[in-house]
Amino acid sequence: MKNMPIKTSVLQKFEALSDRQPLLVNAPGRVNMIGEHTDYNAGLVLPVAVNRSLIFAIAENNEEVCRVYAQDLADEVEFSVENPEPLNKQYKQWANYVIGVVGELRKAGYFATNFDCVFGGNIPIGAGLSSSAALTAGLAFALNELYGFEIPKMELAKIAQKAENNFGGVDCGIMDFVASLFGKEGHAIRLDCRSLEHRYIKLRPEGYQLVLCDTQIKRSLAKSEYNARRNECKRVLSEYKRFYPDIQSLRDLTINMAYDYKNQLPDTLYQRCRYIIKENVRVEHACEDLINGDVYAFGAQMYLSHEGLQYDYEVSCRELNFLVEQTKRDENVAGARMTGAGFGGCTVNVVRDDYLDTFTENMKQAYRKKFSRELRVYPVKVTNGISIIDN
Ligand code: GLA
Repeated sequence: MKNMPIKTSVLQKFEALSDRQPLLVNAPGRVNMIGEHTDYNAGLVLPVAVNRSLIFAIAENNEEVCRVYAQDLADEVEFSVENPEPLNKQYKQWANYVIGVVGELRKAGYFATNFDCVFGGNIPIGAGLSSSAALTAGLAFALNELYGFEIPKMELAKIAQKAENNFGGVDCGIMDFVASLFGKEGHAIRLDCRSLEHRYIKLRPEGYQLVLCDTQIKRSLAKSEYNARRNECKRVLSEYKRFYPDIQSLRDLTINMAYDYKNQLPDTLYQRCRYIIKENVRVEHACEDLINGDVYAFGAQMYLSHEGLQYDYEVSCRELNFLVEQTKRDENVAGARMTGAGFGGCTVNVVRDDYLDTFTENMKQAYRKKFSRELRVYPVKVTNGISIIDN
């Protein structure tokens, strides 16, 4: 099955499971260009959907149970839509996401019957490209189509987020689901996580592409430190509420407001706060830079964002820092930063088209020399969001 197109292998597996004609859905992973850790602070983010995706084949089955097969993990789960409870099994985390989508749809008043589903894809797992959001949002979309629920896409994003929060035990924000559902070819999505208003910003000028450098560091700290940062932000908010009772989130603070009561907070908490406030401003600048077609100004915002994540928010790691640092001296790279939750995973780089091969070679060599590890480099294309595909 190794070299077979994903759709063919997913369909083949599905045919072994069911006689029915399945619905096919494609759900992309995402890369966040800038606006990191701002989503759960009601801030601004700028993600894109990329051409690494999960494909689902799904049909009702008239049986007592759902049968869901995760092709890339060669693992399966059976459960009834009547009883969508999280499994108490760490190693079947993926299954909790699946059950979670069914459970959260029910909570919202949408009742699926039992179904068969096979899914598989090429989103590297644990690399920070949100394979889990592609799974939950992709399945929510597929069930919405299959049962004609007519749920608006932003509601699907919220349902998928709740599946991860309540069944997967990950307290993530809404960005990844919106990116996977709302992606648009050649565009980034400027999402305001307070109002959920979103706008498309064209990625220009031509002649540059997005390239991911995957540290291959599995993000073991990601979950605990992610939740720790969320709690720190809650503490910062309650501290500042003493002085500014009207603020609802860190989004409502300006740098001057924060600075005025800096001494009332432990240094670390002030650093976290400063990062969030400045990162929201950077997203605004980055959008303007894209609109103006100034790729190097955009890149400069990416570098500043990385610095903030490295020193103030402290969610980077030495491998990510090294990779970003490497590109700073290279005029063929407009910008680079870590992307996603941090502690490993990928950097995203804006690289001149005609420089891709040299870039790949240089980065791999430098990484090998420094860490005696292999770097994976993936050029990615910015694609449309979740959609039905032909059989
Ligand atoms: C993870 C979460 C997102 C977001 C990013 C950091 O990807 O799932 O909601 O918080 O980290 O920007």
